[in-house]
Amino acid sequence: MEGSSQGARILVASNRGPVSYTVAEDGTLGSRRGGGGVVSGLSAIGPDAGAVWVCAALSDGDREAVRRGVAEPGVRMIAVPPEVFHAAYNDIANSVLWFVHHLLYQTPFEPVFDEEFRDHWAAYEAYNEAFADALAQEAAEGAAVLVQDYHLALVPALLRERRPDLRIGHFSHTPWAPPDYFRLLPDDVAARLLEGVLGADRAAFLTHRWAAAFAACCADVLGAEVSADGGSVTHRGRTTRLGVHGLGADAEFLRERAQRPDVVERMAALRAEAGPGRRLIVRVDRTELSKNIVRGLYAYRRLLTEHPGWRERVVHVAFAYPSRQDLASYREYTAEVSRVAAEVNDEFGTAGWTPVILKVDDDFARSLAAYRLADVALVNPIRDGMNLVAKEVPVVSDQGVALVLSREAGAFEELGADAFTVNPYDIRATAVALNEALTLPEADRADRSKRLAAAATALPPTRWFLDQLHALDV
Ligand code: G6P
Repeated sequence: MEGSSQGARILVASNRGPVSYTVAEDGTLGSRRGGGGVVSGLSAIGPDAGAVWVCAALSDGDREAVRRGVAEPGVRMIAVPPEVFHAAYNDIANSVLWFVHHLLYQTPFEPVFDEEFRDHWAAYEAYNEAFADALAQEAAEGAAVLVQDYHLALVPALLRERRPDLRIGHFSHTPWAPPDYFRLLPDDVAARLLEGVLGADRAAFLTHRWAAAFAACCADVLGAEVSADGGSVTHRGRTTRLGVHGLGADAEFLRERAQRPDVVERMAALRAEAGPGRRLIVRVDRTELSKNIVRGLYAYRRLLTEHPGWRERVVHVAFAYPSRQDLASYREYTAEVSRVAAEVNDEFGTAGWTPVILKVDDDFARSLAAYRLADVALVNPIRDGMNLVAKEVPVVSDQGVALVLSREAGAFEELGADAFTVNPYDIRATAVALNEALTLPEADRADRSKRLAAAATALPPTRWFLDQLHALDV
């Protein structure tokens, strides 16, 4: 299919788009704009660039908007049949690909690659094809297309078949699995995913570690050739360049947003709830299996056991916002987080002290309030592409924050030097790190926090986005 001269010169493709719709009881359609790195990044080129963002209809509201032909300028939502979407998103992207890249399988019980898996995989293929078709239609001759994440791993190759004139980039926001783990996948699926991404001119990652793992998978599974410097992969005569762009926090947005009255109000409320003068260990996450919230609670419990002097003097503020609740494993994990938090409160709580404040209703202003007040930030994922919370807290912190950071988070590559780094599986070591972070002298804490903030904002989302475009010679 040829691109028309009217087509877009710059395109973005992602599962979750910048806008979502809901249908009110009276049938009117409401829209809500979302945030995130790609949204802020895209603002760098401004509305006049005429970029088009292709995304999926995720909800009934989104599907209704597509049916009524309602769309925001520059956004094209594609509505595949709901059962195809659910199989592609829930059963493959979030239950298989997410699990593989975050090393989440509980072998020998999972994974199961049966007939049902094959049906789901066919849906994932169809969903990726729908994206490739839409992009092929929307793109001008020679346009640049930035494809995002594991939901769309097949799109680069499918799009190249349709439109060899395009410049295609793929960006992985997750870690990439090491070859021995990636090979859990059925051979044809493993090969298809790698060849899908290799359809891009450039495949980019958040850290060198994830880029190297991808290259190692290509060598191992496909027998592809990795260049001596690790900067490119050649397979069947085509070379794909690899890139690393460590997305940073959006300092300008965060600092302005964190000063607003709604945040200040929530600071007062949180301070009152925690009790004046108490130290705060703060964590903010989606309730996500890879975030390791339960082990964080166990480490906190150990801190209170091993260092009873902290009792009544510290509060663990855990904001854990439900996510991917269509999946049983996420629902169970959400329940487990509440259960363990209640257990710690039962064990140690007193009339005037609640050791864990757990909140599950998503409230961005309250998250910022907790960031500003945090003495210690706990970021202990099992594995994480980057982890922006680790970067955001030091940026808005009032007094400086001590960061306890998993060495398995992408952010470790940039922030490790000034954080208390932990093996996320090691509850004992995490408890030790929490104690060290709490006892860090104030001046050291302020110095470290400043250096963390500087490292965290080295690559703002706008630069992150433009760098990827420039790397495709745009
Ligand atoms: C991660 C992924 C994103 C995803 C986000 C939220 O950051 O890399 O692609 O959008 O999680 O997950 P959700 O399934 O709600 O889109």
